[in-house]
Amino acid sequence: MVNILFVCTGNICRSPLAEGILKDKLNALHIPGRVDSCGFESFHIGDPPDRRAQLTASRHGLDIAGHRARLFTTGDFDDFDLIYVMDTGHFNNVMKHARNASDRAKVDYMLNVISPWQNLGVKDPWYHDQEAFEEVFLLLDLACDKLAKKLLTDKSRS
Ligand code: 4NP
Repeated sequence: MVNILFVCTGNICRSPLAEGILKDKLNALHIPGRVDSCGFESFHIGDPPDRRAQLTASRHGLDIAGHRARLFTTGDFDDFDLIYVMDTGHFNNVMKHARNASDRAKVDYMLNVISPWQNLGVKDPWYHDQEAFEEVFLLLDLACDKLAKKLLTDKSRS
């Protein structure tokens, strides 16, 4: 069982998309796990994902409507094994909450899964159009695909 948390700013665009994509891939590969997402800004707490994120997800056969935005908490370090952030702002915020080296070791940039050590950010589509959501989806899909395959390999080794 692997528990994975995605973190972005508002928890209505990038991280709920990553959550929906990875859940779908773990299901398909029969990898047991819990996937969730959260953010750092309180503007949208309790809201469903942005309708543009929902539309992009549904165009790819995914339903992310059930997610509700929430904030990151220090307790997330206890509940999750891996914490993937979308950009440097989130990375710094999560690290500020880390209590020890074990907490810090759980945190990485999502795009380091496909571009190791580059610390690249997933651009925020919130300020852009539907096409930006599609681009973000494709990038996250690529990264989630690699992550799911890595988790499958890890599972078969354990
Ligand atoms: P997200 O996008 O971090 O990908 O969910 C954002 C959504 C809302 C805001 C910022 C980013 N906002 O400032 O309300």
